[in-house]
Amino acid sequence: MFHLIRAGATFEIWAVRPLDKNESFAMKWLPPGKKFTKQASNDLKHEYTVGKSLVHRSIIETLDFGTGKDGTYLTMELFKTPNLKQQINEGAERLHFRLEKILCEAALSIQHMHKEGWTHRDIKPDNFLVNEENEVRLIDFTIARKIPKGLSKMFGGKAPVQGTYSYMSPEQIRGKEVDARADIYSFGCMVYELMTGKLPFTASSSAELLNKHLKARPHEISVLQKNIQPDFGKLVHRMLAKDPADRPESLLEFYRELKAGRCFHIKPKPPLTPEQEAEKKAASEEEN
Ligand SMILES: Nc1ncnc2c1ncn2[C@@H]1O[C@H](COP(=O)(O)OP(=O)(O)O)[C@@H](O)[C@H]1O
Ligand SMILES: [Mg+2]
Repeated sequence: MFHLIRAGATFEIWAVRPLDKNESFAMKWLPPGKKFTKQASNDLKHEYTVGKSLVHRSIIETLDFGTGKDGTYLTMELFKTPNLKQQINEGAERLHFRLEKILCEAALSIQHMHKEGWTHRDIKPDNFLVNEENEVRLIDFTIARKIPKGLSKMFGGKAPVQGTYSYMSPEQIRGKEVDARADIYSFGCMVYELMTGKLPFTASSSAELLNKHLKARPHEISVLQKNIQPDFGKLVHRMLAKDPADRPESLLEFYRELKAGRCFHIKPKPPLTPEQEAEKKAASEEEN
């Protein structure tokens, strides 16, 4: 038993349940055919290696890997929920009443990767799964890298530019070796988007977008989101600093601020249910 969850540019994600098992899991699959390349197959193998080394309640559990005439596949825990980008598309403000909890878990998942010596390098809402219980899973380790240490840090060469332009740090754009602070930048973009409903930078071409990451100042977050505590706004802007040295060193600071409830001024209310929505509409029509 199986069904397609999502077909990306290279990989397909399927929900599968073996006939002899009661449990379903998720399979990231590179089918044989046009899209099958040695590089993509190796990327999936790499994702398996990284995923296997990460055991954390807010990181997807990686199970198995295989390659053969049916292509290459990676299996993992099935976490049935739309990704965070899909949820933002329904209206970021609908998540505000539970945003602190979601972001706490998201920050811890990235922090854990960093502690284990990895940078994710593709932190963005599409790569977080969040369910109604505020449980979070960080996914997609295809372009994760070891954080450079010692000599390789000093002599680190050029890295191919990989990642997602809307969330990409200046140093990643420049093709430099990156460390944890590149993820902190990308996470800053994501927090900004969740808080305001808008990305820090948008443009009509990739070149312009990348140039904005390198040079432009994002709009002051507290102007777009009035219900934000000033210190929290400043922290998000520090995460978005052009120079990694000006960013917080780890996400623990961010986690502590959130945990202490220093995010919104006034606690946001849950969005109305469709029934409440209908009631409200009926009441206002009666009034008119
Ligand atoms: N373990 C999983 N459980 C449920 N859905 C998943 C799982 N892994 C991925 N997905 C869905 O598939 C999408 C793409 O997965 P991802 O690993 O990010 O692949 P890609 O490399 O194509 O970005 C995710 O955004 C999510 O919607
Ligand atoms: Mg992805």
